[in-house]
Amino acid sequence: MSDLTQLNSWKKLAAHAEEMKQVHMRELFAADANRFDTFSAHFNDILVDYSKNIITKESMKMLIELARECDVSGWTERMFNGEKINNTENRAVLHTALRNRSNRPVMMDGQDVMPDVNRVLKQMREFTEAVRSGEWLGSTGKPITDIVNIGIGGSDLGPVMVTEALTPFGRDMLHMHFVSNIDGTHMVETLRHLHRETTLFVIVSKTFTTQETITNARTARDWFLTRGGSKTAVAKHFVAVSTNARAVAAFGIDPANMFEFWDWVGGRYSLWSAVGLSIALYIGMDNFEKLLSGAHEMDEHFRHAPLEENIPVILAVLGVWYNNFFDADSHALLPYDQYMHRFPAYFQQGDMESSGKRVKHDGTLVDYSTGPIIWGEPGTNGQHAFYQLIHQGTKLVPCDFLAPVETKNPVGRHHPMLMSNFFAQTEALMLGKTAEEVRQELIEEGLSGEALEALVPHKVFPGNRPTNSILFQKLTPHALGSLIAMYEHKTFVQSVIWDVNAFDQWGVELGKQLARKILPELDDFEDTHGHDSSTNGLINYYKKHQKE
Ligand code: F6P
Repeated sequence: MSDLTQLNSWKKLAAHAEEMKQVHMRELFAADANRFDTFSAHFNDILVDYSKNIITKESMKMLIELARECDVSGWTERMFNGEKINNTENRAVLHTALRNRSNRPVMMDGQDVMPDVNRVLKQMREFTEAVRSGEWLGSTGKPITDIVNIGIGGSDLGPVMVTEALTPFGRDMLHMHFVSNIDGTHMVETLRHLHRETTLFVIVSKTFTTQETITNARTARDWFLTRGGSKTAVAKHFVAVSTNARAVAAFGIDPANMFEFWDWVGGRYSLWSAVGLSIALYIGMDNFEKLLSGAHEMDEHFRHAPLEENIPVILAVLGVWYNNFFDADSHALLPYDQYMHRFPAYFQQGDMESSGKRVKHDGTLVDYSTGPIIWGEPGTNGQHAFYQLIHQGTKLVPCDFLAPVETKNPVGRHHPMLMSNFFAQTEALMLGKTAEEVRQELIEEGLSGEALEALVPHKVFPGNRPTNSILFQKLTPHALGSLIAMYEHKTFVQSVIWDVNAFDQWGVELGKQLARKILPELDDFEDTHGHDSSTNGLINYYKKHQKE
């Protein structure tokens, strides 16, 4: 048996959950007029309402006790202090140092990392200002109009998500493009509209060995050269962000155009580093630094607020509550802001690559459920797609609803209409609709007898579906920085409770290894026999039909 399930707080929670499964949130709200005040938290201009959860004060006390018993505070300090908590890679985890606007020293292996962090931020400022002002010219003397970020995973999702979210802060004259997929279509369709004289490629890869990124970068360079660009002109049109200076130089990128980061920054936690170069090019370095400040303020809150008032901790223990005691397999992120349309995809990697683990830090198997499936779409699109299952399906899907109080686009009644949906959904998910209420409605619609009774079960909503509502004043760089950091720390706290390493990702390696082995087989005209019959069959079918 694992230590986790032997903890006092865990055992108490298991018993308490059985009681709480008999409770409906309707009753909890009816019994306490102050429930909203009791179960909501404020941070700057962010409000987190977690009152629509199947919890009492007692539940929260036990959940916080669990966090305490799992030494969340100790782990937090170890992370912020540069200890090598990523034990399978023997690395520190210091994305918080990248946004350490206090500039207090952060020691790693006896050395302060802040001078390096500040040096790269300065380099980013100089470069982005030169490009944005038109001082940086392409090789034929024209200013840059198009930026193509080439990267994948953490080297793509963060830059895309933030660039999209902060569109109103972006420079209209700079068109942003993101190529990640090894599918040549992604590159071809992007390049189709671009001119080599005015395009800047930002190649982002922590390792600079990722097949997708290096292949896409080579294709981009070939495109550049075949359209009249010369090898010396590459320096004006290709820059790199990486920890691997040698591979960057071997690719032919001028080391002066390389932006460094370090192995203590995990890919999915890297947008705060030079990986955010495309973001900074688009929104400018002042705004990029506001993003960092927002995250830093959340870091300070996470590090210093008591566990009971600590927003990432509260969100994390609620996640554990449903994941481990209510058997919820997934968690939906539902931004009611079109600019945040890539937010769920971003945290799909952020959370699932971090918590999708089956062994503990010490390598032994867990005997409890770990990270949930993260998914979501912006409201109200999701409402017309998958909310049916959330309301009336057999699965419990805890949801986070996120929205700005003020929209950047106050056109007509759009924003009040959007927000009325936000409020209505969380209310409906909590309240549901009883058979009696359904009957009453149907009678008012003129139905009766068998026809009425036949419809009743279809129209009943059980309710009692948990949601967190997260409102923030406006989607600014500062607010977005805080929200991202909030979810990063939520993920971290959960990983501490589950005793898994949130900072490695060995699970993506096997597929990569096998793809490397299969690639040469696809060029071989002979049938392939070296795999299982399904894989052989598929490869041979593909090869046969390629030949035709
Ligand atoms: O998918 C695995 C992964 O290692 C991610 O963690 C990472 O964000 C991505 O690949 C890209 O890696 P790199 O930045 O080294 O190209």
